[in-house]
Amino acid sequence: MRERDEELMLRAIALARTARRRTAPWPAVGCVLVRDGAVVGEGATGPYPDGPHAEVAALRAAGDRAAGATAYCTLEPCDHHGNTPPCTEALIAARVSRVVVAVGDPDDRVAGRGYARLLGADISVQIGVENALAERDLAPYLHHRRTGNPFVVAKAALSLDGRVAAADGTSQWITSDEARADAHELRADSQAIIVGSGTARADRPSLNVRDVYVEPMRPPLRVLLDARGRVAPEGPLFDSSLGPTLVISTHESRPGSVDAWAAAGAKVELVAPGPNGQGVDLDDAFGVLGREGVLQALVEGGGRLLGAVVEGGHAQRVVAYIAPVLLGTDGAAGFDYAGPRTIGEASRYRIVDVARVGSDVRLQLEPPKEAI
Ligand SMILES: NC(=O)c1ccc[n+]([C@@H]2O[C@H](COP(=O)([O-])OP(=O)(O)OC[C@H]3O[C@@H](n4cnc5c(N)ncnc54)[C@H](OP(=O)(O)O)[C@@H]3O)[C@@H](O)[C@H]2O)c1
Repeated sequence: MRERDEELMLRAIALARTARRRTAPWPAVGCVLVRDGAVVGEGATGPYPDGPHAEVAALRAAGDRAAGATAYCTLEPCDHHGNTPPCTEALIAARVSRVVVAVGDPDDRVAGRGYARLLGADISVQIGVENALAERDLAPYLHHRRTGNPFVVAKAALSLDGRVAAADGTSQWITSDEARADAHELRADSQAIIVGSGTARADRPSLNVRDVYVEPMRPPLRVLLDARGRVAPEGPLFDSSLGPTLVISTHESRPGSVDAWAAAGAKVELVAPGPNGQGVDLDDAFGVLGREGVLQALVEGGGRLLGAVVEGGHAQRVVAYIAPVLLGTDGAAGFDYAGPRTIGEASRYRIVDVARVGSDVRLQLEPPKEAI
């Protein structure tokens, strides 16, 4: 059996992927139960907030055949009463004999207690099988539970010379239809989509998810960062039929703006101003989103917000769609911030994926730990 651990964990990971876009703020988990070499039950996390956890779904499918089985779980089974009872109790009650786990759960309420409970019931536990793959799939969840903040993805559609808009502010469209469709998949994987006030005013964006392969269970939160109340509560961004809207502003916002946003149906949160009084404090803003249960937040620009996000080291991932078009020095910088004084101080990102999308190239990058 043990020689098939990797293969069976890969099956559990594939199952977990079927649950994506429906579980946040829960993780998307998969579980496979195997007895005498045969799969006797399997399951993935059901929709938040009422769906069964993956282990419970698999146990239900297996019935009596779970006794003596090995459970392959992509995440450490939970050991607390949340919306559903603890999975450890269900595994113990079903008398499984062995539990194989890919990734430990950093959630304060689990964090090793799941393993301890199983070991205390004489169930053998093995940890870390296909760990790297499961960690990658669960990255937003793990980051959220470790830090309280969302996993931040900074996305930009850039010209070859790194511009996000032409001299007159137009940016629709720098990239191809295919690249924009791909960016909608990114939106669908996120629970919040964020723009700065400059983009809200220039583009009047909808920030909703359109034409994706798998619709998210709930539309992402559309987030506007507007420290001074410059964006009027009108247009698609405040059309509640397209999704919920959250405005993050400061006490320095223009008189009446907070009431007007709220009257338009938006939720409003006030945080501290950013460094030098510019914009909103991004640590505070991401803290608000973390408390809202946002596991992955997609920052869509414009250039000034993206500059502040990378300068402050807030992004865990950068996704750049690069189009074969030149916009010149009068175009708007994609990451608009002062940058390093000398090349030795420049942040060097790590490319984690390169793909051709339509007529463009998509780069996925991981910032250095101390990004500037
Ligand atoms: N190609 C692309 O991918 C893409 C995507 C989006 C936008 N765009 C283009 O980008 C242009 C707009 O970019 P932009 O640079 O003018 O505006 P922006 O980055 O969308 O918004 C900047 C404004 O956001 C507010 N803000 C709040 N908190 C902030 C923070 N912590 N850091 C930075 N800003 C913060 C600030 O105004 P307050 O101080 O008043 O709050 C700031 O002036 C448009 O032409 C648009 O078409 C291109």
